[in-house]
Amino acid sequence: MTTLVLGGTGTVGSRIARLLAASSIPALIASRSGDNPTASPNTTTARGVPFDWEKRETWPNPFEEAARTAREEGREQAAGIKSVYLVAPPPTTTTPDTMADVMMDFVDFARARGARRFVLQSASAIEAGGPAMGKVHAYLRELGTRGEVDWAVLRPSWFQQNLSEHEAHVRSIRDESKIYSATGDGKIPWVSADDIAAVAVEVLTRKAPPNTEFLVLGPELLSYNEVAGILSKVLGRRIVHVDLSSAEYAKRREQAGMPENYANMLHSLDTAVKFGSENRTNDVVLSMTGVAPRRFLELAEAVKSVWEPAAAAA
Ligand SMILES: NC(=O)c1ccc[n+]([C@@H]2O[C@H](COP(=O)([O-])OP(=O)(O)OC[C@H]3O[C@@H](n4cnc5c(N)ncnc54)[C@H](OP(=O)(O)O)[C@@H]3O)[C@@H](O)[C@H]2O)c1
Repeated sequence: MTTLVLGGTGTVGSRIARLLAASSIPALIASRSGDNPTASPNTTTARGVPFDWEKRETWPNPFEEAARTAREEGREQAAGIKSVYLVAPPPTTTTPDTMADVMMDFVDFARARGARRFVLQSASAIEAGGPAMGKVHAYLRELGTRGEVDWAVLRPSWFQQNLSEHEAHVRSIRDESKIYSATGDGKIPWVSADDIAAVAVEVLTRKAPPNTEFLVLGPELLSYNEVAGILSKVLGRRIVHVDLSSAEYAKRREQAGMPENYANMLHSLDTAVKFGSENRTNDVVLSMTGVAPRRFLELAEAVKSVWEPAAAAA
């Protein structure tokens, strides 16, 4: 049966899609564009499908596409979507809690169409029952307790790829040789999006229902100062961490046009890091995937050209 990857063109979702395609596991990759990031020549294994959280008329699309593909391939007995990867879209017009309500509605919509397993991407900073994805987490756990779904919640720490794929960081490192945060000397177990995706694929596809949460952490604790030190070595020029005050932080976010509620949330996360909230590591990546988690240095060396001034001109 098919695995549905919502947010399948995103940082983690696109990596999940590529891993599923590489294992020839039938997957539908949903996003507003309906693009297929796997570049798989085998389009029966991985297909893009248009889906918009905010346009409910698009919600049936993946289920109709799964049924159509199964008919074409003569496997009507396995026509449905069995597992769903859920990730919230970036906060834009809706508040995080409104989005959680929409996501829970979609869980019910998908269950009514035969989906059994739900894997939610939440965050290390959000407990079950907490705000935003914390509500969806608690809902899946409750449904699981009643035996109505199989579930897993991934709670990754900060992504290493924030530094290499998020525009604000890429631009400031490339153009100013600076990284901005309000985290002080606080440490973070930076985790690779490739490792999060590998854990996600394991819980989406393994036979035994996971029915638990996974704190997905990287292998080493690094402050932004230490990240800047690694980048300085890799790039051969001095990268500096600028530790912002609350007022400076708010001003930068405002200038970037970020919605106020999102900016406040990011600020409170940085403050929590400053006081040690992310000061922990574990062996979840190794125990779930059999492979040691990647270090930030490996990513920095592999993608260093994105921070070279020439990358702006290209
Ligand atoms: N970055 C971190 O350090 C970090 C750490 C822990 C947890 N998290 C959590 O991880 C999640 C983000 O994961 P990510 O970075 O992998 O995702 P992402 O790169 O932000 O991707 C979001 C995906 O959602 C799709 N999307 C956007 N708007 C949509 C809409 N209205 N309807 C349907 N799809 C839509 C996007 O594709 P289209 O634009 O084509 O639709 C894209 O595929 C967030 O919940 C965040 O809180 C992040």
